[in-house]
Amino acid sequence: MTPAARERMTARRGTRTLTRRAAIAAGGTGLALLGLAARRPGVWDSWGSGLAYAAAGEPLQEPEVRLSTNGLLETTLEARTDPRVGTGGMTYDGQLPGPVLRLRPGDRLKIKLINNLGGGLTNLHVHGMHVSPQGNGDNVFVHVENGQSFDYEYHLPEDHPAGLLWYHPHHHGNTMQQTAAGLAGPIIVEGPFDDVPGIKDVPERLLCLQGPFVGPNGVQYLVNGQVNPTIAIQPGETQRWRLLNASANAFFNLRVDGIELNQIALDGNPLPAVSTVDTLLLGPAERAEVLVQGGLAGEYQVRSLAWGEMAQAQPEFQLATVVTAGDPISPVPLPTTIMPLVEPLIDLTSAHIDRQRVVTFNEQNHAPYFAIDDKGFDPNRVDQTVQLGATEEWVVRNTSGEWHPFHIHVNDFQVITIDGKPQSPHYKDTIPIPPRGEVVIRTRFLDFTGKFVYHCHILAHEDAGMMAVVEVVDHASAATPAS
Ligand code: C2O
Ligand code: CU
Ligand code: CU
Repeated sequence: MTPAARERMTARRGTRTLTRRAAIAAGGTGLALLGLAARRPGVWDSWGSGLAYAAAGEPLQEPEVRLSTNGLLETTLEARTDPRVGTGGMTYDGQLPGPVLRLRPGDRLKIKLINNLGGGLTNLHVHGMHVSPQGNGDNVFVHVENGQSFDYEYHLPEDHPAGLLWYHPHHHGNTMQQTAAGLAGPIIVEGPFDDVPGIKDVPERLLCLQGPFVGPNGVQYLVNGQVNPTIAIQPGETQRWRLLNASANAFFNLRVDGIELNQIALDGNPLPAVSTVDTLLLGPAERAEVLVQGGLAGEYQVRSLAWGEMAQAQPEFQLATVVTAGDPISPVPLPTTIMPLVEPLIDLTSAHIDRQRVVTFNEQNHAPYFAIDDKGFDPNRVDQTVQLGATEEWVVRNTSGEWHPFHIHVNDFQVITIDGKPQSPHYKDTIPIPPRGEVVIRTRFLDFTGKFVYHCHILAHEDAGMMAVVEVVDHASAATPAS
């Protein structure tokens, strides 16, 4: 039996009382219930024709799920070259996207990362996870050479929010190449969010968006490794879609023809209240969870609408096709409120601020072309020293004419204003800063000391230098940042 199969067997035994988890582990009817299907290898073998509209493809398939049991998920991820993804393609364990790691608050996650890329350093980052950045935790200063492995271990706090996170390589200089080649996978943290009336028992689908990839017939964007998969829904049926932008550099300006997107979570955090949109912009690394309801029978396109200007301009492209068919179901009312902001992610709108910082993302006409506060990334320099326990406000400015998605590791932040406009209280880990714009965030550095990074999540920019180091220290008086 393969380790993965054993893991699934163990999961089955350990989760008898947990309906949704048991269903995922057991397969069969449970999988059908959740809209999951058995994964067929090489689903991305057939490429569409460039950015042209391809005919509706195979039914959407879910990636393999690896479940924690009895508080532990212990697994291996082998980063390897994979020509099935195209020239220079790379996958974890031969899967595109990598397997879903499905956890609960309080769990331990142990990952043996194996570098079999045939050259080039790699490492692993758990994006959006609130865990220690030190040692063999979420430490992006680690590097793993070809032919070597590294044992990561993460302890999720008992109060970790439930939601969609992801993992990807983070070795400065080849983060873009490896992520764009296919190295990325989802992480799902379960929790009380899943039991909210109107969300509980709603069939869930994961849509991991990746691309562009260059296949035999041109450029293609993939959903769960598939070209234009079909998503089946009955008229009136409600589904919970978990959307992940796992591309290195692309934005997805999502529109589902004829279907409203009722947002219930952003990044890894439930929203206090549902917010309904027609179009949803997901920058690199952003996630959203939405409730959708099937309308009249028919076929509806899931597209990314044309977006961006100048160097960032993207054409419209197709992602998937919703096929609404079958017996109409009388729609259940959608929830309006989801989860209030509770410890540790409380509303900081009127909190006492210990310190305010201004961080400026800038582009220069000399190296480093992409910088933060005029400087390129230096792993040996600490750019911001923060006192453990501090509540801080960061004013994140963008002086360039391009979007830069700001992301910080370890601690999520409340978005206070975007270009001066107050935002309803919610937490994120990645927020696109508009051209010549400004986003104000507030965050608390409550429980983890150590060094970690903040950066632009357009990975081409990150690799070019748009990244900096923050260190959380436990002294009475934190040193002032180097000038
Ligand atoms: Cu998703 Cu520092 O990364
Ligand atoms: Cu991250
Ligand atoms: Cu950028």
